[in-house]
Amino acid sequence: MRVISVVGARPQFVKLAPVSRALEGRAEHVVVHTGQHYDERMSDVFFRELGIAPADVNLAVGSGPHGAQTAAMLAGLEPVLEEAAPDWVLVYGDTNSTIAAALAAVKLHLPLAHLEAGLRSFNRRMPEEHNRVLTDHAADLCLAPTTAALRHLAAEGLGDRSVEVGDVMTDVLHRVREENTRRPRDRPAPAGDYYVATLHRPDNTDDPSRLRSVVTAMAGLDREVLLVVHPRLGAMAERHGVALDAGALRPVAPLGYPDLIDAVQHSAGVITDSGGLQKEAFLLRVPCTTVRSETEWTETVELGWNVLVDRRLDELAAAVTRPRPAPTDATPYGDGYAAVRVVDALIERGA
Ligand code: UD1
Repeated sequence: MRVISVVGARPQFVKLAPVSRALEGRAEHVVVHTGQHYDERMSDVFFRELGIAPADVNLAVGSGPHGAQTAAMLAGLEPVLEEAAPDWVLVYGDTNSTIAAALAAVKLHLPLAHLEAGLRSFNRRMPEEHNRVLTDHAADLCLAPTTAALRHLAAEGLGDRSVEVGDVMTDVLHRVREENTRRPRDRPAPAGDYYVATLHRPDNTDDPSRLRSVVTAMAGLDREVLLVVHPRLGAMAERHGVALDAGALRPVAPLGYPDLIDAVQHSAGVITDSGGLQKEAFLLRVPCTTVRSETEWTETVELGWNVLVDRRLDELAAAVTRPRPAPTDATPYGDGYAAVRVVDALIERGA
């Protein structure tokens, strides 16, 4: 069996790591990188530090408006997929790379599998919401990370082609946390004495007054805030004259995955609008505050480890310093063996 994985953005490289390992010896695996993320710290470092072989093909599409970026990917992917004629095209998550590969595959009548299927924010302002809904409906196999995701798929009439496999982010997090204990990383500050923050959603970064309000609220927190600066945040802050080093803020360049996990694990809390980081904080049992009005990872909120703060930014400090949530041994994101189930499902349902 031949599987083509199409990836392009940072969180997809993280998910690719356990899937690549699980495919070893079970199927031929070709990796196509669209080039959506291309900086060393946004791309290469993940391949290197997570032990992923370099991509077989890199389309080097780069940044651009949604239409131009997605169209360039589509045009680049079509001949690559056609020539490889895989048994499965495997796409990950909800980025423009995901929807481009999904469209390219189905138009060529190639079987399409969607990893991390069934997540919904029900927020139609998010480009990711459209990417994930359209990809699920195009896919022949929807690989759901959680029971809630499987429920969404069933509610949309996709139950027959869906299977719950668990979350491959749990697989990679367990491995990296284990490796970190053997090879300690450099810490940004004494354990428990700082927060980790990230911000990259257009809804938070692109409107200057919104950006200023969120940054000001974080700058006023009671501990140092290690602000891991995504290029979009850096560019928008500069354009709008918003200082990212005010008050408690300590801006740092994007971190590789093992450093980020170590920094989160030893922090007093996380403030973010990232999807992956909400879950990573939960898996590491670090309280998270999410600067959004909704989340796809509702289990983190239901279990008390994640609090949403959106318009009322005066409530951010109270949310971040809230008492530690009740301990839980719930495993809504699987047992760390999701990637093996992904490969099992591809083989069982493959040609
Ligand atoms: C993308 C995904 C988002 C995901 C995020 C993870 C879409 C619509 N969005 O958002 O779902 O959560 O990746 O990080 O696909 N840039 C660089 N260097 C890079 C890459 C980007 O400087 O290597 C800058 C460019 O100015 C670019 C901007 O960051 O315009 C945004 O990049 P883009 O890939 O369009 O979206 P992200 O915000 O990263």
